Amino acid sequence: MHPDLQKILLTENQIRSRVTEVAKLVDKALSGKRPVAVGILKGSIIFYADFIRCLTVPLELDFMAVSSYGAGSVSSGKLKIRKDLDGDVRGRDIVVIEDIIDSGFTLACLKKLLTERGAASVTIVTLLDKHERRTEDIKPDYNCFEIPDEFVVGYGLDYNEEYRSLPYIGILKRSVYEK
Ligand code: PRP
Repeated sequence: MHPDLQKILLTENQIRSRVTEVAKLVDKALSGKRPVAVGILKGSIIFYADFIRCLTVPLELDFMAVSSYGAGSVSSGKLKIRKDLDGDVRGRDIVVIEDIIDSGFTLACLKKLLTERGAASVTIVTLLDKHERRTEDIKPDYNCFEIPDEFVVGYGLDYNEEYRSLPYIGILKRSVYEK
């Protein structure tokens, strides 16, 4: 285990088996469509790569980068689009793939934006849901794991751009982010 972690919350095996299970449900629901899988950079990249490889429907891949957080751990409440989609979403079935829903602000804004742009449907898939921190009225269509309000890193998630490449998800020691 990485020395900056208090404990491992989700092991590689737990993640793999749950991601496969959820992807099968999404795959079934999207049967007969040709959706666009929209990854929200950067936190979702590892989840995105594992998740889309479990889908059998024909897919287009696209990405957005938005920020609602500063360098710290608290959501600032302002969404900024740093990289927009390459493709047009009009009339398309969109699957938004996120690593975590916290306040829900990012996904609430994204869902509104994609709907306003004319998407035929917007399905939200998240790896983690910190439900107790929710301030916006938004629910993911599919969630892999409900987690407690702890600072988690790994499997794409960072603290100040560190720890994203850890293959598991762990709880960061308070001393790391409170110093
Ligand atoms: C995280 C996460 C979501 C958002 C969730 O991204 O990937 O996009 O915050 O928070 P919210 O529900 O309170 O809006 P972050 O800005 O940390 O960027 P990153 O994915 O590049 O690490």
